[in-house]
Amino acid sequence: MSLETDFIVIGSGVAGLRASIELAASGGRVAVLTKDKASESNTEYAQGGVAVVLSDDDNPELHEGDTLVAGAGLCDEQAVETLVTEGTKYIKQLIEWGGEFDREGGKLVFTQEAAHSRRRIIHAHGDSTGAEFVRSLIARAGQEKTINLTPFANTESLIVRDGRCVGVRFLDPVLRQPREIYAKAVVMATGGAGQLYQHTTNPPVATGDGMAMAYFAGAEMADMEFIQFHPTALNLEKAPRFLLSEAMRGEGGILKNKYGERFMPRYDERAELAPRDIVARSIVAEMRRTGTRTVFLDMTALDEVFLKHRFPKIYETCKFYSLDIAKDMLPVSPASHYCMGGIRTDLWGRSTLPGLYAAGEVTCTGVHGANRLASNSLLEGLVFGARAGAAAAAAADSSELIVLSSESKTEELKTRNSKLGTELATAVKKRVKRIMWERVGILRDKDSLKRAIKEFDQIAAGNLSTSSRNFVTLARLVATSALWREESRGGHYRNDFPEQEDKFKVHSIQRLDTEISAAKSINFSRQVGV
Ligand code: FAD
Ligand code: SIN
Repeated sequence: MSLETDFIVIGSGVAGLRASIELAASGGRVAVLTKDKASESNTEYAQGGVAVVLSDDDNPELHEGDTLVAGAGLCDEQAVETLVTEGTKYIKQLIEWGGEFDREGGKLVFTQEAAHSRRRIIHAHGDSTGAEFVRSLIARAGQEKTINLTPFANTESLIVRDGRCVGVRFLDPVLRQPREIYAKAVVMATGGAGQLYQHTTNPPVATGDGMAMAYFAGAEMADMEFIQFHPTALNLEKAPRFLLSEAMRGEGGILKNKYGERFMPRYDERAELAPRDIVARSIVAEMRRTGTRTVFLDMTALDEVFLKHRFPKIYETCKFYSLDIAKDMLPVSPASHYCMGGIRTDLWGRSTLPGLYAAGEVTCTGVHGANRLASNSLLEGLVFGARAGAAAAAAADSSELIVLSSESKTEELKTRNSKLGTELATAVKKRVKRIMWERVGILRDKDSLKRAIKEFDQIAAGNLSTSSRNFVTLARLVATSALWREESRGGHYRNDFPEQEDKFKVHSIQRLDTEISAAKSINFSRQVGV
């Protein structure tokens, strides 16, 4: 039997939780479906902090300026302005709701991260900022009686009727079978797709499902080629690529090669605090030059007591792997970290598919352009989660709840070219991840991308479960847009086109059954009111 509600939110990271709270304020029933336990998300693992204009020597123009520079010409200025101005309001609200950030003498402590012109990053429990976001937002959402959160509810596809998203197909964790749920609006908040790559800082849930679901349902995808690789993931055999926060370099950590030499000043005058893409590519160049698979993060010049207090989680995790961050050289290398591209949305989280809203890392709002400024993502989840929730709630009065009849359901299912199934086949996943790392990674070129696309087409020709089809399709979207963009900009670097080209100061747009195209602006509607 199918279910009915007023709003569906898919995902329980910062964006999904914040959207749910906003939707609940409208009095509607909110069904939150999330793939794993409620706290499992990229948000939970966020370390460094959240960038926000709150210190005396900062202002929104400075934060906006830094964000635009990092975005390498592809940010939407209105989106960035919205982020930095409303960000302050929403962080203050989170603090009122019980969010606790680190303080000294009662005052918030601000840290430095790469490409920020001010110390504007606030953090929680030293290096567990994301976990504090999750804790405080789940507590706040728990106060809303109309929010019903279902964990372990893997969503696989969107239900579309007459060009409108009317519901969601998910695996019911109790019945252990596929089920439909219908609503007046759906908010996609499934986060990013770091898991597309063999080496990633992202947890296993970050397989980009929402992007693929939206694409198959007919929504436009933007700027999929822009993947951010974090320079410093712990690189130990048999250990996951645990993130060693950029804040460690912000506090004075330096990068050394296998000979113990500091190398970053040779690549960029900003050294360890150059933008992430530059540090990541410099590390790759240095590893190639010295014939190794790692470089080292050196924190030994810093006081041990300070390090333990400032980075408690990193300290403990490294200790688990027999590394003392105050004494040892920490082996690091880059890993996929963040997707700048995603579902194309306007400033109110509206996708190009009526009835489908989206917020957070799953989207492309134009906030990050070609490269995200460190610690802008948690802020984006709060601001645009609230906005998407507000817009979906406002539109609900004029939206009807449409429930498909059994006959139209059968018709609708016939149009889907894959069998229902929850398993992302291990073999498919492993193969796609390897291809993405080797051919669609930090450095790309025409040949590598063409070979990747060919291999993805071979995989897609098989009899795949929906999850596997979603995964390989997403990989193909990244490779296709990376092939199309014949220049290097932000997180996208082409060996065969190393320069930034004016003619590519546009966004790549992909849509089902349509050739890739260019758009001058992400914001397709330019509507400023809800
Ligand atoms: P997520 O937090 O990833 O939430 C997505 C949710 O969707 C999850 O609940 C997931 O289970 C669910 N989901 C996924 N697929 C499905 C499906 N098919 N069906 C149902 N549910 C589904 N950003 C910063 O600003 N500051 C930082 O310090 C920082 N540090 C980071 C450190 C690490 C290790 C990582 C990985 C990221 C970091 N980031 C940081 C980035 C930031 O954490 C994320 O971009 C942000 O939290 C994304 O929030 P979100 O709500 O969009 O997605
Ligand atoms: C980090 O702590 O280095 C991650 C910050 C971010 O991704 O914004």
